[in-house]
Amino acid sequence: MRADDIVRHICERIEIGELKAEERLPTHRNMAWDLNCSVGTVTRAYAELERRGITYAQVGRGTFVAGSENPAADSEMRILPFTPEEDLEGAIDLSINRFFHAGTSRAYGNAFHQLSLKVPQSGYRDYVDSRGRPKDLAYAASWLEHCIGVVDPSNIIVTQGAQSGLFMALGALTKPGDMIATEAYGYPGIKAAAQELHLRINALDMDAEGILPEAFETAVNRSKVKMLVTVATNHNPTGITTSLARRKMLIEIARKADIPIVEDGVYTPFHERVLPSYWELAPDISVFLTSFSKVFSPALRVGYAVAPSRYIPRLIRQIGAMNWMTSPVTLDLAAELLEDGTLYKHQKELIAEGKRRFAYAATRLAPWITQEQKNSAAFLSHFWVELPVNIALTDIIQQASDRNITLIGGDRFAMNRQQDAHFVRVCLMGVPNHEALVDGLATITDLLTSSETACLIS
Ligand SMILES: Cc1ncc(COP(=O)(O)O)c(C=O)c1O
Repeated sequence: MRADDIVRHICERIEIGELKAEERLPTHRNMAWDLNCSVGTVTRAYAELERRGITYAQVGRGTFVAGSENPAADSEMRILPFTPEEDLEGAIDLSINRFFHAGTSRAYGNAFHQLSLKVPQSGYRDYVDSRGRPKDLAYAASWLEHCIGVVDPSNIIVTQGAQSGLFMALGALTKPGDMIATEAYGYPGIKAAAQELHLRINALDMDAEGILPEAFETAVNRSKVKMLVTVATNHNPTGITTSLARRKMLIEIARKADIPIVEDGVYTPFHERVLPSYWELAPDISVFLTSFSKVFSPALRVGYAVAPSRYIPRLIRQIGAMNWMTSPVTLDLAAELLEDGTLYKHQKELIAEGKRRFAYAATRLAPWITQEQKNSAAFLSHFWVELPVNIALTDIIQQASDRNITLIGGDRFAMNRQQDAHFVRVCLMGVPNHEALVDGLATITDLLTSSETACLIS
């Protein structure tokens, strides 16, 4: 959208009475967000509206539709809409894959209150089953049903988040010295768990559809890989969602070698079941892991693992050795949040918000991301942004930091040291409002564009 179009759009809204005299126009950033254009375009449009006398601006208060004889006369009385400016005071952190929801504190408060009324007679004095109590498994099954379809509670184990599930699965289903295969770039928690368990990593090449089957097959045949660990949905950090065809090819290879596929599905709850999980496609060899860290809060430390019956005893032994059990207190807290619908509500709202942020950011970052990221079937919570050749990774992170934007470099995700990582990961869901995202993206696109221009000039 160009500045002229915005001018026309606002004039039309005034004409049909949708915008009234003295009404405040959205901030530049909000308008840029609503119309999916840059802040600069809105600034030009607002200047033009003011020049034509259609609007007037007041320093520190905003832009208003002109109309009364004396626009400033009643301005002291005007109640400005609340904008959480204090949120903008610190750095704009686009480095972390957290999911901001304004209702989290209140939801915790309500759940704590409800829980305080229901402390069991036993006073939580007992140890409970390492896999979770029957009621925990029933709650798990009801949550999992709308993420990956019907799951029998006997196939579920409660964990303290997806990371705990990863450590459990790696520890239970491999031996020290074994080789595991995973995406060439990946969630650092996979590498951390592998290192602690003395496992070696075979970092598999990927294309736009996910892990290359040839790479996996070679790893299985030559390196005797004992497990595939994958983040098949909204892959962290590349944003790739493995295609259905690719999932099936990888399953075929894993099944032939009878090695488990561990799917870290921490982002699956946002995926609206666009594609089936590995568990749905191959329940005989797949372990599915998820948690409430993204949908609600990492502090809840509740997650679920789904696995075929033959793996369950080993997994339970491992989780028992790791932490005996997930605390029934946090499990009861999760039960409150499931029971009163909070987790389902947050999930729905974050999906709607995620789609808006994704669409906006995909347009802004278009020159530096792949077509597949732009066209992703489900929204991505982050983009894997390729840097122009003439800017060093450390320089762009420093330049962003000088302008109050926190970014994370692609090198942090490389599964082996030889990989080139001329990328930054830009997370969309952690900042509390659109203004912060609009500002953060404007700075990043500025930095990328100016380094490209410098490249053309030099
Ligand atoms: C792919 C992936 N798995 C697991 C986690 C951590 O999940 P949890 O907090 O449930 O342990 C993250 C966090 O960013 C992640 O990106």
